[in-house]
Amino acid sequence: MNIQNYVIGNWKMNGNWETNAKLINSIKSNLPHSLNNSSTKTVVCVPYIYLIQCKGLLNNSIIEYGAQDVSAHENGAYTGEVSAGMLADLGCKYVIIGHSERRVYHKEDNELIADKVNIALKYKLIPILCVGETLEQREEGITNKIVKQQLETVLQSIQNSEQKSNIDNIIIAYEPVWAIGTGKTATAEQAHTVHAYLREIADNYMHKSPSILYGGSVKPSNAKELFNMLHINGGLIGGASLNTQDFCDIISTLN
Ligand code: PGA
Repeated sequence: MNIQNYVIGNWKMNGNWETNAKLINSIKSNLPHSLNNSSTKTVVCVPYIYLIQCKGLLNNSIIEYGAQDVSAHENGAYTGEVSAGMLADLGCKYVIIGHSERRVYHKEDNELIADKVNIALKYKLIPILCVGETLEQREEGITNKIVKQQLETVLQSIQNSEQKSNIDNIIIAYEPVWAIGTGKTATAEQAHTVHAYLREIADNYMHKSPSILYGGSVKPSNAKELFNMLHINGGLIGGASLNTQDFCDIISTLN
């Protein structure tokens, strides 16, 4: 199985023009040298308005950039939204979709998320589809049921759409909600069990087995153990992606 590894930073709503430039420039100069010859891809997903800044800063760099959300609509009267076409226009290649902070704070459901993945694929963006259970759901023993619903709603919808032939472009990120920004990480075994289950489901719909990333309090101290697991193909990194040393150390663990 030859599956692409990724380390993807999710800056969330952090940074400004000055701190972004410092962060990107120091990541560029501290990146592990081995990255040039490695198969791991490094991406930063930044607030919309800084995509243009990152495009400039990352010109000729092996680091790629992406957005953190996209509208489900193609264009029109949707005040405040940003379309997939606009992201593509800025040279953006990736977009996070269905992050738990969007599901919870913006009431995004699986159907809306499926529409967003669909439009992202239409514009040749790579959707990073986030799934994950809450602490209550884990304690109730329904983790598998929840992540299956989250993943299958999207994959079924894509399979029945014009984007069917692009389904293999989807990256999956397993992010247990209880581990995001809390300092609590899933153990490598806990994460791996869910990853193996997600792969089983994804393989029913996709022709090529997808990259499945783990997210939720990944740090240099736990990255190696997580990334060593067979079905974990890298990470979606929140807090630690805002610190050059931490982010570069996490990237080194995959190289
Ligand atoms: P965290 O966030 O690494 O800060 O837990 C991960 C994410 O929300 O993508």
